[in-house]
Amino acid sequence: MSTESHTTHDSDEDIRNRDIRIYVNGEIVHRDQAKVSVYDSGFLLGDGMWEGMRLYNGKWAFFEEHMDRFFASCKTVALDVGMDRAGILDALTRTAEANGMHTDVHCRLMLTRGTKVKPFQHPSLSRSGPTLVIIMEHSKPAASLQSQGIRLATVPQVRGLPMSQDPKLNSHSKLNCVIACLQAEEAGADEGLMLDPHGFVNTTNACNFFIVRRGEVWTSTGDYCMKGVTRQKVIDLCRDNGIPVFEKNYSLYEAYGADEAFLTGTFGAQTPVATIDGRQIGDGERPVTRRIRALYRDLVAADTA
Ligand SMILES: Cc1ncc(COP(=O)(O)O)c(C=O)c1O
Repeated sequence: MSTESHTTHDSDEDIRNRDIRIYVNGEIVHRDQAKVSVYDSGFLLGDGMWEGMRLYNGKWAFFEEHMDRFFASCKTVALDVGMDRAGILDALTRTAEANGMHTDVHCRLMLTRGTKVKPFQHPSLSRSGPTLVIIMEHSKPAASLQSQGIRLATVPQVRGLPMSQDPKLNSHSKLNCVIACLQAEEAGADEGLMLDPHGFVNTTNACNFFIVRRGEVWTSTGDYCMKGVTRQKVIDLCRDNGIPVFEKNYSLYEAYGADEAFLTGTFGAQTPVATIDGRQIGDGERPVTRRIRALYRDLVAADTA
């Protein structure tokens, strides 16, 4: 069982990140100079959308899938991106070149409704066009994530219904998830396991969640979680490789008794879960998680070849 506290986004320290250059609305400047207005909709309200992507061999893994989600999310909240996906790719390429980055890079692409003329909520107060920021860092997930696994705690904060704030949106406002993470920390865990409004196991505050039972892979229906690109890739890989996979409702009863559990996300790919609410998950062997991880690694390699 792991004892040392860590997060699902722990990475190896890389001193090159102290001098990275950041894209802010077409300008690429040193991180110390990268600023947006205090009137920015993202700062004032969390009114924006973002994507987390990874660069390998000079190529963005699953770029089209990320752009599908990004443009669909922006359209949902009437946020005009102001450029097409070729324009986004160009901005990404310029930022990577300015940083001399080629592989093992993590990027946070962020778009907000832009600078407001007054510090109030109405979207029409954002009049100068959207704010686009791209932060890229040299990044390799810490090896301890694989060796120790993550400790989860089930938290009181639940996923929302689609008609309040659709949990499928990768919005700047992550307060629901941040509260869940705080609750998990208070419970002595690394990350929060969140239930849906009916009490079924759904997702964690920063990743999607899977269990393995008797060779079957289970994840939630997808109705209350982020439409994770990695989540969908894992489901597709299982289908293509004869691993039974189900998107279904299940409770903590099945999660506690799982043979294996793992999280998915662009940063960590598949990260094993060591414990849920102090209960050890499986015997630590994790053969299905290891197989899926190998399949996913090959898929990323093929996509970025
Ligand atoms: C709440 C939440 N769930 C899941 C994910 C994983 O999504 P993806 O696999 O597209 O990185 C993220 C990533 O941003 C997230 O914020």
